[in-house]
Amino acid sequence: MPSVHRATDVRLGRIVRLLMSHATVVVSGTKLAEDIGTSRSEVWRLIQQLRALGVDVAGHPATGYQLRVVPDLLLPEMLAPSLKGTVFGGARAGSMSAFPLGGRFPQGLKPAFLQTEGGTAEAVPYPKPRHEAVPYPKPRHEDGTAEAVAYPKPSHEAGAKIHHYYKIASTNSEAMRCAEEGAPEGSVFLAEEQLAGRGRGAHNWHSARSAGIYCSVILRPAMPPSDALIFSLAAGLAIRVAVMEIAPQLRVDLKWPNDLLLGGKKFCGVLTEMNAEATRVRHLVVGIGINVNQAKFPAELREIATSLKIETGTEWSRVELCAALLKSLDREYRSFVEEAGARDAILRRFEGSSSSVRGRKVSIEENGGLTGVSEGLDERGFLRVRTAEGLRAVVSGTVRVIGNL
Ligand code: BTN
Repeated sequence: MPSVHRATDVRLGRIVRLLMSHATVVVSGTKLAEDIGTSRSEVWRLIQQLRALGVDVAGHPATGYQLRVVPDLLLPEMLAPSLKGTVFGGARAGSMSAFPLGGRFPQGLKPAFLQTEGGTAEAVPYPKPRHEAVPYPKPRHEDGTAEAVAYPKPSHEAGAKIHHYYKIASTNSEAMRCAEEGAPEGSVFLAEEQLAGRGRGAHNWHSARSAGIYCSVILRPAMPPSDALIFSLAAGLAIRVAVMEIAPQLRVDLKWPNDLLLGGKKFCGVLTEMNAEATRVRHLVVGIGINVNQAKFPAELREIATSLKIETGTEWSRVELCAALLKSLDREYRSFVEEAGARDAILRRFEGSSSSVRGRKVSIEENGGLTGVSEGLDERGFLRVRTAEGLRAVVSGTVRVIGNL
């Protein structure tokens, strides 16, 4: 019987959040039980689950509990306070304080989850389904690698639109499935690990556990399908802003259409998928993979992939980067749907943030292949390339820079 991975029990996030907000004191099992509305023995069971997931909690039922290190897990409870008022926030956000960490981990506070290399973290049981229309749990694929979420959660809860998984096949596949079933705009799907992470052009996305950010969001913009490419370029801009907000020393280079590079190597990619009629998008799923704390990559990726850790020599808080990312994406999205001149501004800003989109000798292997000089983006977001045969507009493909002018 294949294992089925489920959305994370939301009570784990609540316990972590409570322990974080009482970081200097031991919190009694009774207090935790009262706050999350369960029994002390259930709290003990949940604490054991957190430990199995690598969260370093000291104590036992008789003494109470205390966090030893701040966990860097992308739990809804960790992200929700930063997302109030954004398309990714719940309808009525809770009263939790702002996320307390800086971008880097404070000295001596290593994220607990990163210390469990080769550990045994597994999906955890989710409380009973709260929505009758969507039977739960329900395996989706033959191989059992995707799971149903208890969806929708009550919209008044902070983080209600954020769905977290310890393990999943692909957050994009899950987001597309939930979008089909009516998940609201702004739903976010985050995984600690993907077993079948997908990239553009049928590539895989290497998704090592808790080292990167694997995030997919559902958007429902009123726009024609032809605008999806421009919004996807805008997503790249949003990610660039977020990364440089957290790590201002980095110079992120955008490579058309959807790669983000550091020192010529890729550390982030975007996979935008959609369901559309001829003239109208029903929903977009923007899938973002960011290499954050990977120390190394498999041999086949070593020459082309990098991470924030490799580039800076230090570990970064995925929670803070993910919050910055979603806030930046929210700003970009609002301006895209609300401002008349947004499309043109996106194209100009993309050109200004990319070293290869104008004035470089490039080759594109796909679609018959072509070689020429890049001449910026046209009004649809296509890459203009001056070839020996004339000016061509490239719709998709992988750009390789082969020289300067
Ligand atoms: C690419 O550069 O080819 C795009 C990579 C996109 C990877 C992300 S990780 C989260 C989301 N889920 C997936 O399966 N893919 C995207």
